[in-house]
Amino acid sequence: MEEIFHHVPVLAAEVMESLRPASGGRYLDGTLGGGGHAEMILKASSPDGKLWGTDRDESAIAAASSRLAAFGDRVEITNDSYSNAAGWVAVGTLDGVLLDLGVSSPQLDHANRGFSVQTDGPLDMRMDQTQALTAAEVVNTWSEAELAAIIWKYGGDRDSRRIARAIAQARAEASLETTGHLAEVVAGAKRRGRHKKHPAVQVFQAIRIAVNDELGELTRGLEGAFGLLKPGGRLAVITFHSLEDRMVKEFGNEHARDYDVSGEVDVPMLRVDREPRMRWVSRKSIRPADAEVEANPRARSAQLRVLEKV
Ligand SMILES: C[S@@+](CC[C@H](N)C(=O)[O-])C[C@H]1O[C@@H](n2cnc3c(N)ncnc32)[C@H](O)[C@@H]1O
Repeated sequence: MEEIFHHVPVLAAEVMESLRPASGGRYLDGTLGGGGHAEMILKASSPDGKLWGTDRDESAIAAASSRLAAFGDRVEITNDSYSNAAGWVAVGTLDGVLLDLGVSSPQLDHANRGFSVQTDGPLDMRMDQTQALTAAEVVNTWSEAELAAIIWKYGGDRDSRRIARAIAQARAEASLETTGHLAEVVAGAKRRGRHKKHPAVQVFQAIRIAVNDELGELTRGLEGAFGLLKPGGRLAVITFHSLEDRMVKEFGNEHARDYDVSGEVDVPMLRVDREPRMRWVSRKSIRPADAEVEANPRARSAQLRVLEKV
């Protein structure tokens, strides 16, 4: 199982330096994937550190369970969304929480999951394969305006309207069922330019984010993680998308400041003093070294931010 679910943990040394796992510590890995980071946390917190791990994807759970089996009851694995972690981890008890967002290499590599623009497969893109909403449903039933909005907002694609129109025209002939068909429609709608990546990469990213409600998960998950940590506990978040990084940064800034804002706009006169709830462990995001990007190109856009609960 491990071999077909091979995922190289990103920013591994930096995550360990940030979370500083130690014996007796209690940790949550909210995005287990193949269990790479989880295994490192368990080793570093031996002999009695405890780790709760979760993933929405059943095949990730199977892979992580077999990889982490040797740790026995030091690890507790649940197939769920990290935003639900308060359902099975006691509030205010954790020394560290890790979220390594996005998709894993095995999810991208298996054509039948429908995540990859490079290989033809069904338009699926669900991390949780029991969920009803699929990429096919988004592509075939969402309005042209809704498609344009997500392609712009989550994909940052400047041709969002042209692409949404092309999808609407194509599906009027026959519904789009495969990643290959969608990629072809998108490529045909894009204005000519020098694309280093496949022309449909941003559209695939946008649809994946919508199918899995990734931004909603992150909003709920960050607040949930704050509640699970004990004072001095650390939250480490790895993002691969500037929208997500901005959300983590805003969440951190909001918790690190020493005042509340009353109303929508921050008017200095109307600030209400309060104690900071968290502090930044490093002000700037941590990026992978050149050597890591060379060895693992998927690390290229990774950014790590670390906060400590006060
Ligand atoms: C980049 S991989 C994690 C890799 C892992 N750190 C490792 O070392 O193998 C991201 C994983 O997070 C999972 N995931 C994404 N969003 C999730 C959510 N809201 N709740 C639970 N798991 C999620 C995906 O299914 C995927 O397996």
